[in-house]
Amino acid sequence: MTSTSSDDKTEVGSVFISNYPPYSQWNAEALEDVRTRMQSPPANDNPLGLYLHIPFCRKRCKFCYFKVFTDVNAGEVQRYVDALCDEISMVSKLPVMGNRPFRFVYFGGGTPSFLSPKQLTKLADRLHEHITWDGAEEVTFECEPGTLSETKVKTLREKLGVTRLSLGVENFNDALLEENGRAHLSKQVFAAWEWIEAANFPNVNIDLIAGMVGETWDNWRDNIRRTIEMSPESVTIYQMELPFNTIYSKDMLGNKTESPVAPWQTKRDWVDFAFDELIAAGYKVSSGYTLVKDTGKVNFSYRDNLWRGADLIATGIASFGHVHGVHYQNLPHMNEYLETVEAGNLPLGRGYVPTPHQSLVRELILLLKRGFVERDYFQEKFGADILTQWREVWDRYVEQGLAEIHDDQIRLTREGLLRVDSLLPAFFEPEHQNVRYT
Ligand SMILES: C[S@@+](CC[C@H](N)C(=O)[O-])C[C@H]1O[C@@H](n2cnc3c(N)ncnc32)[C@H](O)[C@@H]1O
Repeated sequence: MTSTSSDDKTEVGSVFISNYPPYSQWNAEALEDVRTRMQSPPANDNPLGLYLHIPFCRKRCKFCYFKVFTDVNAGEVQRYVDALCDEISMVSKLPVMGNRPFRFVYFGGGTPSFLSPKQLTKLADRLHEHITWDGAEEVTFECEPGTLSETKVKTLREKLGVTRLSLGVENFNDALLEENGRAHLSKQVFAAWEWIEAANFPNVNIDLIAGMVGETWDNWRDNIRRTIEMSPESVTIYQMELPFNTIYSKDMLGNKTESPVAPWQTKRDWVDFAFDELIAAGYKVSSGYTLVKDTGKVNFSYRDNLWRGADLIATGIASFGHVHGVHYQNLPHMNEYLETVEAGNLPLGRGYVPTPHQSLVRELILLLKRGFVERDYFQEKFGADILTQWREVWDRYVEQGLAEIHDDQIRLTREGLLRVDSLLPAFFEPEHQNVRYT
């Protein structure tokens, strides 16, 4: 794993942490346990969510590390959507579902908005034969600006019941968008924005990336000014990282070239500036990456439930899920995924059965991304005092000006929050500290 000490270059490696133990430790042997747990009813009222992966994009961004396919034809898309519906029909009958309604639903990608209004309507109709998300408190849908049309935006709101539309703006500068291989230009953001505002989604989020290739201070200031002008309910800012499988990473490793991405300290300075500007405009910090305009109006059901150990049924190629305390990931290759589902089987690829201690670490590191953790919460749920258990780590972070210890809460300072992912491996078990993350 790349270290992110202050003046570090952005080298190849995964920095963003989304689960524990590291994905590299998951294996096919654990699937027997995963299947057994899926066949038993839920133990309690743990909230339930659904993730659907749509792996298609118009173009592959040069910094993208997700499972995506470009240049697909209509027949291939339809075969995938059919398989996804069949998979959901299978999971809807699993005993682990119990009678729980879906509290949150997340259409992620790739680019879910790659699908046409007709395909989306058909998908919703077919899914509704097996499941409903009418009562869900949050239905998120990721969109690439250039794929949207007025009809599609209306379909999302009216037909799919989307409550949270997340728009991948990333940057407003056309030269940067092009350089980084984005499929859209800024004029498509502004066109989409009118349709989005007219459709009245309870929550619209804008994604930005600090550190796109070619980024400068002047341009970054302009990005933040435009973001504030648009006034979305929430803004998510990721610091550009270069995991192993991005186009930029392959170029760096293959041609032994220098990193084209700004150093970590510069990216943190950009995010720090963005936080200050957004706070001045009335936003509140909601995690190391996200600011929210009205905390009374927007709750992050997917994020907060998942970070607290909710069950997440993952569907689609290479998706990650979590049920009954165990992790799993679907098959990552298209043919294998399709053939397995078409043969009537769940497309499980690998899994992991965490020990109780590993479940504690998982929640601790994920919840710390909000910028604070509460001792009582962990005491009640895991019978563990996170302060004494990791005293040395906390003391070190306090000494470095990254954390503060209060009565019940341990809080990260702004400095700590801006580098939260690099603070998390210290809580890992020793055998997981220096392994590859993904
Ligand atoms: C899975 S992508 C889906 C976005 C959608 N495909 C689009 O084109 O707008 C979700 C978000 O991850 C972020 N992201 C993707 N690659 C990244 C990278 N290498 N470093 C940091 N953030 C990244 C981007 O902000 C992106 O909007």
